[in-house]
Amino acid sequence: MLTTAEMQQEILKLKREKDFCVLVHAYQTHDILEIADFVGDSFGLSKQAAKAAHKNVLMCGVRFMAETAKILSPQKNVYLSSPFAGCPMAEQMTVNQIKALKREHPEAAVVCYINTTALLKTVCDVCVTSASALEIVKNIPQKEIIFIPDINLGRWVEKQVPNKKFYFINGGCPVHMSVTADDVKRAKSLHKNALFLVHPECKKEVTDLADYAGSTTGIMNFVANSQNNEFIIGTENSIVQHLQFKYPEKRFYPVSKNCICTDMRLTTLADVYGILKFGNGGEEIVLDQEVIKEAGHCIDQMLKYGG
Ligand code: 13P
Ligand code: SF4
Repeated sequence: MLTTAEMQQEILKLKREKDFCVLVHAYQTHDILEIADFVGDSFGLSKQAAKAAHKNVLMCGVRFMAETAKILSPQKNVYLSSPFAGCPMAEQMTVNQIKALKREHPEAAVVCYINTTALLKTVCDVCVTSASALEIVKNIPQKEIIFIPDINLGRWVEKQVPNKKFYFINGGCPVHMSVTADDVKRAKSLHKNALFLVHPECKKEVTDLADYAGSTTGIMNFVANSQNNEFIIGTENSIVQHLQFKYPEKRFYPVSKNCICTDMRLTTLADVYGILKFGNGGEEIVLDQEVIKEAGHCIDQMLKYGG
């Protein structure tokens, strides 16, 4: 029988012995965050995956994140913590749909959210994350943008880049889209002194009510720099817990009980232990060389234009 703390100690030892870098998305549970080599949002994880010197990478997150790590480091063995952990948004669009849109708008750059499959990235021009989308869309030379798959993030960027023309298909994150304006109003009436911080994957009716809208890291940074003591968090509910650990003297409230990503919840600390100890339970990411090359172009462009 191991306690949580003992299992974490074992994992730290196994990581060193087996030359593993463990990358953890901020939506994972707190016990997993504590054993990470790096915790971050999608943009931070991509940069870290490219940098890590280890032979093996374990991605605790969802499939597109592990695929991105493999594309950036094809010589490494990259494992996804749970073979079932997908992202519903990443699979909403097909290669043929995007090719058809490109034919309709030949001058436009296809800007894809990083939450897309490796295969879909092969027909896109540049990847973005919520932390880098605005800067990248401003920086690329094209004046027309096909923004996929998240229409909410796309419209949030469009509002701030009025000199470019945008085209969308209707996609998005079912978890963030479940938040309603009524959820915000109810939370605000319960916590009158709280500021409302929201992820731009939420619907416009929700971001319109925000004191701040930005990526996971943006939300964390906002709290770090704010004098306020109470916050309503409009993103995946794990962030409420992490913020409470980080700032025990402040108070954090979820905007909605529904803002939980079941895919992100699939990985447990015991899974991480099992993968490192016995070498099974996760899934090694294997991608075609052509896919690595073509999807890699779109990720390289993100790192070039996103800083
Ligand atoms: P970021 O990590 O880029 O903030 O995106 C949130 C998300 O939904 C990840 O799947
Ligand atoms: Fe995908 Fe949304 Fe879950 Fe992020 S929170 S992994 S975008 S379903």
